[in-house]
Amino acid sequence: MFSNLYVRGIRIKQIEEDSYYKYLPAIKYIMDMDELRFNSNVTFLVGENGIGKSTLIEAIAVAMGFNPEGGTKNFSFSTNDSHSGLYNYLTVSKGIKRPMDGFFLRAESMYNAASYIDELDDDPEGGAPIRLSYGGKSLHNQSHGESFLSVVENRFGGKGIYILDEPEAALSPARLLRLMCNIKELVDNDSQFIIATHSPILMAFPGAEVLELSDEGIKSISYKDTEHYIITKRFLDAPGRMLGELFE
Ligand SMILES: Nc1ncnc2c1ncn2[C@@H]1O[C@H](COP(=O)(O)OP(=O)(O)OP(=O)(O)O)[C@@H](O)[C@H]1O
Ligand SMILES: [Mg+2]
Repeated sequence: MFSNLYVRGIRIKQIEEDSYYKYLPAIKYIMDMDELRFNSNVTFLVGENGIGKSTLIEAIAVAMGFNPEGGTKNFSFSTNDSHSGLYNYLTVSKGIKRPMDGFFLRAESMYNAASYIDELDDDPEGGAPIRLSYGGKSLHNQSHGESFLSVVENRFGGKGIYILDEPEAALSPARLLRLMCNIKELVDNDSQFIIATHSPILMAFPGAEVLELSDEGIKSISYKDTEHYIITKRFLDAPGRMLGELFE
């Protein structure tokens, strides 16, 4: 089947060393199958805390050539090597076209990316300030949500692969909807997103594929069948009743 995706799928070969990721059910599941395919320009990885979303997304990003701590492919800072060795076993099935742009957002590392940009800009030998392409203001002088949207709106140029770990963490519901508009524009401009999320709003993105990681492995489901959606809906429909039951 013709696919215009930059990342069409991933394979993980048998892991020899005794590592924690070898025992994550989702990773074992991919190891035992031929290939985990991506079928949409927007793929969400969802599932319980600790199931392995960040481990997997980070290995995909590193296998694609991104700095494990986040940023563009040109970012080369390293503060602590907390990333796993899973990328050594992971192969990305690349599409026919190469991405012209890309960004890896690792929830914990926005701060470090901001420091790195400031450092480069403080170098008198450096060229034009990089912060100009991030909205003109140091990311440190913007709030968490502001700096994240500033990166998306100023730096994500389209025709790119964007790998994001819980982008909703920084954003108010209104700004999350704005992010979804940004994603829509970028997808219309030949981009691909792979996103780990807990947000039942974000995962409703039209046409996206939701891959649920669980103790059984990985399966493609409707966002309305995720626990995130079901619990949030039950809660919002009747918060008093649900909390009453819980507090009994
Ligand atoms: N360096 C490490 N050494 C040992 N175990 C680790 C290490 N990093 C992560 N883990 C474990 O691997 C599992 C998967 O972690 P991961 O961060 O991928 O989960 P996650 O699905 O992203 O969770 P969350 O939704 O909370 O972000 C967790 O049980 C975690 O404790
Ligand atoms: Mg995570």
